[in-house]
Amino acid sequence: MITVTNLRKTYRQGERTITALDDVTLSVPKGSIHGIVGHSGAGKSTLVRCLTLLDRPSSGSVVIDGRDLTRVKDSEVRTARRRIGMVFQHANLMDSRTASQNVAHPLELVKTPKGEIARKVGELLSLVGLAEFADAYPSQLSGGQKQRVGIARALASDPDVLLCDEPTSALDPATTEDILTLIRNLTHTLNLTVLVITHEMHVVKRICDSVSLLERGRIIEHGPLQDVVGNRTGSLGKSLMPLPSTAVNQSLPELDLLLVGRSASAPVLSELTRRFDASVNVIAGTVETLAGSRFGRLRVEVDSPRPISEITAYLEDAGVHVEVAA
Ligand SMILES: Nc1ncnc2c1ncn2[C@@H]1O[C@H](COP(=O)(O)OP(=O)(O)O)[C@@H](O)[C@H]1O
Ligand SMILES: [Mg+2]
Repeated sequence: MITVTNLRKTYRQGERTITALDDVTLSVPKGSIHGIVGHSGAGKSTLVRCLTLLDRPSSGSVVIDGRDLTRVKDSEVRTARRRIGMVFQHANLMDSRTASQNVAHPLELVKTPKGEIARKVGELLSLVGLAEFADAYPSQLSGGQKQRVGIARALASDPDVLLCDEPTSALDPATTEDILTLIRNLTHTLNLTVLVITHEMHVVKRICDSVSLLERGRIIEHGPLQDVVGNRTGSLGKSLMPLPSTAVNQSLPELDLLLVGRSASAPVLSELTRRFDASVNVIAGTVETLAGSRFGRLRVEVDSPRPISEITAYLEDAGVHVEVAA
């Protein structure tokens, strides 16, 4: 479990004070994946550096599985850091070492006995699906395979936490899917706590249980994926489930519908046509499963003798979020 409380980090730049993190509070339960999204300059890298103790926060605390990292003595920083595995955008492997030698590296640094290293490295390479590539050099591996080696190396010290900084930003779509599936599976098998820094909403959709939006050092929106998507006032919901652009006809009333969970699985629209003697025409829409729940976003055109206010009231009652399109 990761708990960040009132974290602040300021930098001095000449006369100016730059607040890179401003009162950041978040918590990630064990066995789950939390996404941090934000534009360039939002403070994502600063957060990663504070979590890995590469940088000391100005105030606030970072607690990982009960241990307050901000209170760790300088002499214990290295040991504390071993509890956190890091996965980067580029695997940053050593070219002169084979896959297994790369994975072995963090274990050699702490003088793990040779036999144990061999056993552990074999286990890790199997875990990431690269058992046959143990003796391959990075130049002989694809981008996705290199990232798998990077993940195996991050897991070598049996960390409780995995910090992934843009883990798929350098990969093609198919490889991105593979790596995301691997991260998701490892989170479950090893009961890891995972933080994924990304600018890609796709990554959040595919693997995150919860998400925070960082802007100018502050978390301006956060929550479980289901809640964030259902929140009509926030910007994350619109980015996660955008309404496809439409050519507006304007002769009939149009409604934007957000169907969440129960309402996304129920025949709400066919019931509407019966009750209101309406014809409903879907102009645009998507239905997706996010964090195990179904979501639908639809724009519909409604032709009914009954007032539109009655129809929206019925839909809201059925658990659908409705906005009358302008
Ligand atoms: N070492 C530093 N000295 C001064 N300012 C910094 C330093 N590191 C980051 N910043 C500033 O802090 C803010 C957040 O930066 P950063 O964490 O790198 O954002 P992101 O990773 O989201 O792009 C930016 O305004 C950046 O200029
Ligand atoms: Mg950055």
